[in-house]
Amino acid sequence: MNAEMLVFSGSSHPSLARAIAERLGQPLGQSQVIKFSNENLMVRIADNVREKDVFVIQTSAPPVNEMIVELLIFLDALKYASAARVTAVIPYFPYCRSDKKDEPRISIAARLMADLIQTAGANRVLTMDLHSPQIQGFFRIPADQLLAAPVFFEYFNEVLFAETSRADFVLVMADHGAAKQFAYYFDELRSPVAILDKFRVDHTEKPVIRQIIGDVQGKSALIIDDEIASGGTLVEAARFLQAAGAKRIFAAAVHPILSGNAIERLLESPIERFIVADTVPVREKVKPYGDRFVVLDVSPLFARAIQCIHNGDPLSDLFPPSVKRRR
Ligand code: R5P
Repeated sequence: MNAEMLVFSGSSHPSLARAIAERLGQPLGQSQVIKFSNENLMVRIADNVREKDVFVIQTSAPPVNEMIVELLIFLDALKYASAARVTAVIPYFPYCRSDKKDEPRISIAARLMADLIQTAGANRVLTMDLHSPQIQGFFRIPADQLLAAPVFFEYFNEVLFAETSRADFVLVMADHGAAKQFAYYFDELRSPVAILDKFRVDHTEKPVIRQIIGDVQGKSALIIDDEIASGGTLVEAARFLQAAGAKRIFAAAVHPILSGNAIERLLESPIERFIVADTVPVREKVKPYGDRFVVLDVSPLFARAIQCIHNGDPLSDLFPPSVKRRR
């Protein structure tokens, strides 16, 4: 696009937005969010955005519902300020687990989010590791989904597999959904795989693991999942893997929501290390726990994707080779 690029940050994750802007070699755009006593929000864009190519970075982080409304008002303000094109950059997509109608009389809230984002004025969306692929199809505007995998693979190959023998590892998919979503991990990492047969019986955030498909006896288990919310899945998975004979347990998840007392629960589990990305503000939260949490930086991926979108270049180089081959 010939128009000048401008990058704005919402209030949800300013450190990630700053890192992205820095990598793009430009300052963040100036804006102000005012919260009135009646809890209404006002967003004022201080820079001239007329005919500019604008990116606004807002992730789903507490207070989640307020951050969603802030994003919508941001998009609306940019539209009325005559931006040429507005891209909503949403590293962790809100309500992403509400992606299907699997109970009577419920909303598909992730689709509702997509509707709202488009109506508010987004011309494009850039996000990362959606909970399920159908969410991309909830949009009628271009929606690019980045994968954090290259950043995780680099860590696995250069650090984790270098510390402990690669041949010892089994990739453990946290549920059937993860097995499908992260199938390309097998191609890239060439490790054996096990799948946990996990299901939920209610909304108590206490999942049940029925069985394990695959063998972890005497192995280092590396659990792969898209997000850690209450920590229930990982705690239960670790208990199950230990009983199945795993000798060491590690976990990797893209979005570390770490809600409620998740950190305390995880620290009590036999999982040696939690490897996560910074799609939500997590660094300060886990800082006191030293090496037990490793936070990987996704700002280079987002910066490159924004530059590609701005230039009109394909994003394919940002994906692992096995994902590219499937395209
Ligand atoms: C569930 O389907 C997801 O893939 C994750 O396993 C889940 O969101 C993790 O949530 P929690 O940490 O609360 O078990």
